[in-house]
Amino acid sequence: MDKKLLIEKALEAREKAYVPYSKFRVGACLLTEDGKIYTGCNIEISSYSPTLCAERTAIFKAVSEGDRKIKAIAVVGDSDFTYPCGVCRQVIREFGKDATIIVANSVDDYREYKLEELLPHSFGPEDLDNKK
Ligand code: THU
Repeated sequence: MDKKLLIEKALEAREKAYVPYSKFRVGACLLTEDGKIYTGCNIEISSYSPTLCAERTAIFKAVSEGDRKIKAIAVVGDSDFTYPCGVCRQVIREFGKDATIIVANSVDDYREYKLEELLPHSFGPEDLDNKK
């Protein structure tokens, strides 16, 4: 897996962030199990609640194109190591139980986690199949 490429693409995607309210830009780049790449940025809406995080923009782009398996996702924000929010962690969980999450400041300065580390004891699709 080319982690630096994912970070570069996330940095590029961050340039597209539409953030007139928070002015806080986030970019994400997702790698599918098939080796495809989808990018996303955060998109803010004046009534606030429809705002979409960069990670979910990338994930929904992938899923809407038929790609449902996340191998890895790189995230680059405007703070020192911007971590995915709780909602995005849950959405990553849906399509990438074993996904690698790369939280980066730059191509040379990044941290790497498994989804399980950032969302331990998670609830997921399998739970609905394992009803008592
Ligand atoms: N944001 C993301 O895009 N991803 C995250 O995981 C954290 C938060 C965005 C949402 C909003 O546009 C801005 O950052 C400030 O919360």
